[in-house]
Amino acid sequence: VFRNSLRLQLLAWLALPVLAVIALNVWTTYQTARDMSDLVTERTLHASARAIAEQLVVQDGVVQAPIPPVALEMFATGSGDRVYYRVQRWEGRLLAGYPDLPEPAQRPGVAHPTGWEAEYRDQPIRMLALAHPVVGLQGDARILVEVGVTQRGRDDMMRGLWLEALHHQLRLMLVAGIVLWLGLGFALAPVLRLRAAMMQRPAGALDPIPIGQVPRELAPLVDTLNNAMQRLRQQLDLRTRFLVDAAHQLRTPLTLLSTQAAYARRVPTPSDKDEGLDAIQASVQQMTHLVNQLLTLSRAEPGLALPRMQVDLVDVVRHAFEERAPLALARSIDLGFEGDPQPALVEGNDALLHEMVVNLVDNAIRYTPQGGTVTASLAACGQDWLLAIEDSGPGIPAAARERVFERFYRPPGEVSQGSGLGLAIVRQIVDELGGSVTLREPASHPGLRVEIRLPASGRA
Ligand SMILES: Nc1ncnc2c1ncn2[C@@H]1O[C@H](COP(=O)(O)OP(=O)(O)O)[C@@H](O)[C@H]1O
Ligand SMILES: [Mg+2]
Repeated sequence: VFRNSLRLQLLAWLALPVLAVIALNVWTTYQTARDMSDLVTERTLHASARAIAEQLVVQDGVVQAPIPPVALEMFATGSGDRVYYRVQRWEGRLLAGYPDLPEPAQRPGVAHPTGWEAEYRDQPIRMLALAHPVVGLQGDARILVEVGVTQRGRDDMMRGLWLEALHHQLRLMLVAGIVLWLGLGFALAPVLRLRAAMMQRPAGALDPIPIGQVPRELAPLVDTLNNAMQRLRQQLDLRTRFLVDAAHQLRTPLTLLSTQAAYARRVPTPSDKDEGLDAIQASVQQMTHLVNQLLTLSRAEPGLALPRMQVDLVDVVRHAFEERAPLALARSIDLGFEGDPQPALVEGNDALLHEMVVNLVDNAIRYTPQGGTVTASLAACGQDWLLAIEDSGPGIPAAARERVFERFYRPPGEVSQGSGLGLAIVRQIVDELGGSVTLREPASHPGLRVEIRLPASGRA
């Protein structure tokens, strides 16, 4: 769910830095709250010590230290803190308060009270000491006033301040999160709309998605998608046309068959019937050839990934010659091979490579007049093997050399039997192996020279 949701992912990416900022904030807020409560405690201690100092009076040369209630009530914040005090002469004579209160490490100056932290009656306390000169005293006129308070009130205040700040931030975060969530929803709406539109399309719909409604960032994606769909549409159109063509090609011999059967039935004499049956057999052979060619074509479909192996082109040519030798003999055509009998290895499917060469040899023998020659040759050419099949026939005019590769194409007026699929099969197989096929005229005589280049295998 998470990986598929753009919204959640964006939110997560935003959440990480936000969390870091929050952590930092929590820490600084804590520091601020602590400093503030310390300051308030310090101020209160100072005020309390001053209140005590201001009540000091000299009667008959003796200092009196009445403790004003307000000096202690300042600390009544409801946290149950304990307040301790001590008033003594500078040399140490106790005037009021707790005799065992901790002493300051350093005595305060008159204008400089000292504050420190100490431990008293097993509790941490905050202390403040004040020096107050009293007029009319003999000896050192300074009086040392000390006030201490337990830390509960200060801790409560710190916690209160801190929590308050935290709550504030949390509320902010919540609002920001909601706004962010809604904002992402708005920003991602076009993507979701596109998705919905794609899902609503009927299966097989290949018309382009209108690019006008998508945001600028998505336009390249939609464009690519549209291009892919257009290519797919072209492919599908080709398939459909091929299917229609194939059906037509099959219908012609079937119609012929039907006529031939009717003829064989009608004629009275056995010899005439035999003639009719021969015609039927020829038609069936022609249809078988067509169906076989169609099968080969479908097996050589790109993307089928037929098993590949190292195949020796010399072997393939030899087998093709052997297979078509009877036809060559019948037409008194001389089959020849030029080139080293060494292996010429290529990577490919042996059955398809065989079909490729057989189709070329078959064409060469079939379209060359009686008594002609057909020569195959093999030569290394850079990283490729160059296989050429040459014949001494009429050749193919340059203008038609591209068209003859089309499926079912046969030049108008072609009388010899055939399906028009042979060269289409050859090209499909060559393309699949990353090679090339070219038609040209032989160097030394008129005719056709078919050149096939295939990447050599096992050679650096
Ligand atoms: N060796 C050749 N010499 C002359 N014409 C050829 C040769 N090979 C092919 N052609 C021409 O190219 C056309 C297409 O060949 P191909 O695809 O093998 O189909 P098919 O042989 O069934 O007609 C043939 O009909 C023929 O006109
Ligand atoms: Mg052919």
